[in-house]
Amino acid sequence: MSFRAKLFLIFLVTVLASVSVVAYGVAHYTRAAFEEKDTELTEALVAQFNKEFEQRGDEVAQQVENVANGEITLRVAMDLARPNADQSLYVHDAIGVSQDHGMEFVEFVNWDGTIISSAQYPARVGYKNDWVTATKDWRGSHAFLKREDLPDGVVLSVAAVRTVSGGNDKNLYIIGGRRLDQNFLASLVLPSGMRALLYRNLEPNFVESALTGVNGSADNPERFRPLIEQVQKSPQPAVRTINWTADAASAETFHAMPLPGRNDELLGVLLVGSSRKELVLLTRRIVTIAAAVGAAAILVGLLVSLWVAARITRPVEELAEGAREVATGRWDTRIDVRGTDEIGQLGTAFNDMTRTLAVQKEKLVQTERVAAWRELARRLAHELRNPLFPMQITVENMQRAKQLEAKQFLEVFNESTATLKTELANLNTIVGRFSDFSKMPTPQFSKVNVNEILRGAVKLFEAQFNAVGKPTITTECFLSEALPEIDADADLLHKAFQNLVLNALDAMPAGGTLTLRTFERERNIRIEVADTGKGLTPEECSRLFTPYYTTKQQGTGLGLAIVQSVVSDHHGTISVTSDEGRGTSFKIELPQRQAGQRPVPAEGAPADAKNSPKTFAEDFGRGKRLTDSAQRTDACRAKLTCYSLTTTQTPWLLFPVLSAWLAMKRPCATTRGARWSCCVRTASI
Ligand SMILES: Nc1ncnc2c1ncn2[C@@H]1O[C@H](COP(=O)(O)OP(=O)(O)OP(=O)(O)O)[C@@H](O)[C@H]1O
Ligand SMILES: [Mg+2]
Repeated sequence: MSFRAKLFLIFLVTVLASVSVVAYGVAHYTRAAFEEKDTELTEALVAQFNKEFEQRGDEVAQQVENVANGEITLRVAMDLARPNADQSLYVHDAIGVSQDHGMEFVEFVNWDGTIISSAQYPARVGYKNDWVTATKDWRGSHAFLKREDLPDGVVLSVAAVRTVSGGNDKNLYIIGGRRLDQNFLASLVLPSGMRALLYRNLEPNFVESALTGVNGSADNPERFRPLIEQVQKSPQPAVRTINWTADAASAETFHAMPLPGRNDELLGVLLVGSSRKELVLLTRRIVTIAAAVGAAAILVGLLVSLWVAARITRPVEELAEGAREVATGRWDTRIDVRGTDEIGQLGTAFNDMTRTLAVQKEKLVQTERVAAWRELARRLAHELRNPLFPMQITVENMQRAKQLEAKQFLEVFNESTATLKTELANLNTIVGRFSDFSKMPTPQFSKVNVNEILRGAVKLFEAQFNAVGKPTITTECFLSEALPEIDADADLLHKAFQNLVLNALDAMPAGGTLTLRTFERERNIRIEVADTGKGLTPEECSRLFTPYYTTKQQGTGLGLAIVQSVVSDHHGTISVTSDEGRGTSFKIELPQRQAGQRPVPAEGAPADAKNSPKTFAEDFGRGKRLTDSAQRTDACRAKLTCYSLTTTQTPWLLFPVLSAWLAMKRPCATTRGARWSCCVRTASI
């Protein structure tokens, strides 16, 4: 994920988290505040109900008291207290009292509990009403909630009882009351969004018609069943929210308050409902505002991340691109520096670094060039000195021979001139070989099968693997048949493989196993040549690719330098791993395609190369193995001729020295116990 995307994501998460937390917090506290206010209002409404109820009760009690204190009532009480009193005389009195005192319910009950007169239910005259006579003196008692049986049903009333003594310890009981119904509810002052309902609990089960609102029967009374049944089961205050429709704003929370009668029996339930609309709308508004703030923040985040990206990411990307270019060898890479902040300082530091690198590289190349020329001069001087020394002796001999007789002088002269001619021929040969080797061909790329070339190189040494009287060398081949053809010079690769196999043979004088492996690897092909020979020390490894480095008596020390040169010309890499005393493994990685090369037809090139006459120097320069010591000496000379001083060839000639120097300077050598490895990054100059 890019830095820009990460930045945007972090911003997004931070903003969304903050907005969500704020929105949740606001919504939570709003809900809590709303609930608190709702509870307060409900309590206030219940208190108002109780107050109203008490007030109405006091009124009723007062009215009953007035009736009880009336002279007529006293006379009736006294009359009824007499033995054999005629109760039927007073059957209609309750109706009159009811009309006179504005009470809907009035009953006169005799001292023995018999109803003498009933305003609301005259047919009950003569019935017994024991509960009222259970209390002898009702004076000062409060009004209470009472169940009233009527001819057409049952209702609730606020009732009060008073007694009038008629003498002989016989009392007349006056029960008066007023209906508790929707009119009573209408007298309550309801805050907006609240309403009160009354349920008359006069049946054992929930009865829909028993629920009354201010305007008469309530809508959807069935929905109240669970709440009422809950209170019926346990006469405690209860709360329940009813969702009238799918819209949450239609919900109402109902607080149910049980209304007990005189003996704490549940006679009614007061339901105080408060609409949740306000809360829901408020919550919705909070969510909408939060969403709008979130969206705005996302937009701002996007703009900010784009700005930051332009400010930070782009320079960083340019820096990364610059670093990549430096890695590919363009050491003069520069990046645009904007501003003087940390990013600008980074860019300046990068430019300083590449400038220094370029300078260092130039210095390095010059140093290497001087070193290479010195080495060439040394080698050339050494080679030239070999024939010059006998020539000098010969000339001195000739000078001394002047004093001899003519015949003897002639003999010496002839011998000396022959020697001089030979040595001059040698000198000529040396110079010629240097010249020839300088013409080392650049690779002629064609599509080649690396497996075949490897097999061909190994085949040359088959006789030596199983030579009679010599320890056997076993060859193990793991050559991938799926290996693709690559762009390469078959002859140069052949020579390189020959050198590696030969080195492996030399490293296994007591026999061993030569392992060859090829396989494809990340669009490159890998060739491995491993032996179980004596291996190398880390010190030997660091010098391995240095020209003329050899531990062999008759080695020239140019074999691996040439291998490295070939690999480099193919834009590949070579590395070596070794376990001292256990073996060495060379790994070559070659690209499948050579950029900018026009492949020569596969068949033409090698065939031509085979048929074309080659110089000795070319043969040896490409790593041809010569077995006898004379050939080796010649070969050695031939290799030295590669350092011809012609300016046109200088870059190629400098290559082995420079890459060997690089190998020494920059080996990625790691030491793990006795195991170590060294890889050489080859590069064209
Ligand atoms: N497979 C190997 N095992 C152990 N040492 C090796 C191996 N290959 C190379 N070397 C060491 O590296 C040195 C340099 O090898 P290089 O092929 O360049 O030259 P040479 O083999 O000594 O001479 P030439 O190849 O000209 O005959 C060798 O002398 C040897 O010490
Ligand atoms: Mg060699």
